[in-house]
Amino acid sequence: MELRSDIRFLLNGRAVSVPSVSASQTLLDFLRLEQRLTGTKEGCAEGDCGACTVLVGRLSGDGLKYEAVNACIRFLASLDGCHIVTVEHIRGADGGLHPVQQAMVEFHGSQCGFCTPGFVMSLYALWMETPEPTEKQVEVALQGNLCRCTGYEPIIKAAVAVSRYGTPSSDYLNETRDGIVAELKVLKDGKRVVTGPAENQAIVPADLDDFAEVLVQNPQATIVAGATDVGLWVTKFLKPISPAIHINLLDQLKQIEMTEAGITLGAGVSYSDFLPMVKAHFPFMLDYWNRIAGWQVRNMGTVGGNIANGSPIGDTPPILIALNASITLRRGAERRVLPLEDYFIDYGKQDLREGEFLESVQIPLPAKGQINAAYKISKRRDEDISAVAAGICVTVDGDKITAARIALGGMAATPKRAAEAEAALVGQPFTAASFDAAAEAMAKDFAPLTDWRASSEYRMKSAQNLLRRFFLEQDDATAMPVRLNA
Ligand code: FES
Ligand code: FES
Repeated sequence: MELRSDIRFLLNGRAVSVPSVSASQTLLDFLRLEQRLTGTKEGCAEGDCGACTVLVGRLSGDGLKYEAVNACIRFLASLDGCHIVTVEHIRGADGGLHPVQQAMVEFHGSQCGFCTPGFVMSLYALWMETPEPTEKQVEVALQGNLCRCTGYEPIIKAAVAVSRYGTPSSDYLNETRDGIVAELKVLKDGKRVVTGPAENQAIVPADLDDFAEVLVQNPQATIVAGATDVGLWVTKFLKPISPAIHINLLDQLKQIEMTEAGITLGAGVSYSDFLPMVKAHFPFMLDYWNRIAGWQVRNMGTVGGNIANGSPIGDTPPILIALNASITLRRGAERRVLPLEDYFIDYGKQDLREGEFLESVQIPLPAKGQINAAYKISKRRDEDISAVAAGICVTVDGDKITAARIALGGMAATPKRAAEAEAALVGQPFTAASFDAAAEAMAKDFAPLTDWRASSEYRMKSAQNLLRRFFLEQDDATAMPVRLNA
């Protein structure tokens, strides 16, 4: 395998080669400290406030995809072959304001000014994708941007009005797209990148097979996909992650395949990349999906990473376990398939052997008669970690429940099925009494912890009531809970 030691990318309008990039170097530090591009701000340094939002363009198929990401938790070494666009680059050819900036001025969307570049970059990404967004679409795009003073109303009004000040087709990034694609293709030279000092080394494998080989050689390495978790190990816990293997740009891990049996997604598929499949095949999950972190984090974070890190409060394992998903683990050229629920052994302990990694996730399509739901209980509606997450899949034949798979997160040391509650449902009629009995049985399934997210009692009561809610939603559509924004 041929090696290279520099990280190469396009930064705004120029090509950059950084000879040595340490594993823990973030994009934000590079922009602000080395490039003096201080329009990109640092607020929380953990992917929560959006002050550091930039666009990253990556080759996707034959085209180019620009996404809003958090520069504070994005590692510089993960940007090999990408186009980074900061707020300094969006001014017009005459030096004037960009349409997004103009709209923010006209609608008084900026008060402190500190958060504004981040808002502008998120809205820029939205406007390129959806030039005439609805308020709802704007809200989703801004979940990851925090405004502490002006309030969101003027910002949302500005976002809806951007197209009055210009059209995406005449935007700089669209006009230069073909040239950027050509330049990025040249940067893709098929070499493995090994960069940074020996004690803080980053590795970017050439392809999937190369990754498998590198991991067998470096079984203690930190695998970094979207960096939405590992990023915080560095910025908040100052934890060494060397050697770090960046897999976010491996095309083979970004594939989504559809078969009659279901969907197979590569472990590197981001939440945003999977969104069209959620809409098409798991519409019950759409609200839930849009409540996973904020837009920038969903553009970076991967379903595979959410599983592989083994967290008991990951958003996707409960519903994936309920859907009876399985995973493929790979070591070198060897593969094995495991039901997802068996992957989680205990807190911090997964069924993962040395040098092995999560390659793909298989999700069966819901069967006929199967009713599904995904719920998340958290302190904030958006951009929050769940106190309790639930995936519920119940199959009904006539008026009898013939199968039930119920999995919960936040209730035990791992994401876990509610075996007693399931047993209480199977064979019973689809009635309120059956779900009441299942909710009572659930008390035997879990002994949840009290922590600063929720008390043990609150967790148990919420989980039991989610089962009752599931029944009510099916039984009577008018029984849907009243929502704040309704
Ligand atoms: Fe807050 Fe990056 S600084 S999200
Ligand atoms: Fe900056 Fe609200 S305008 S925090």
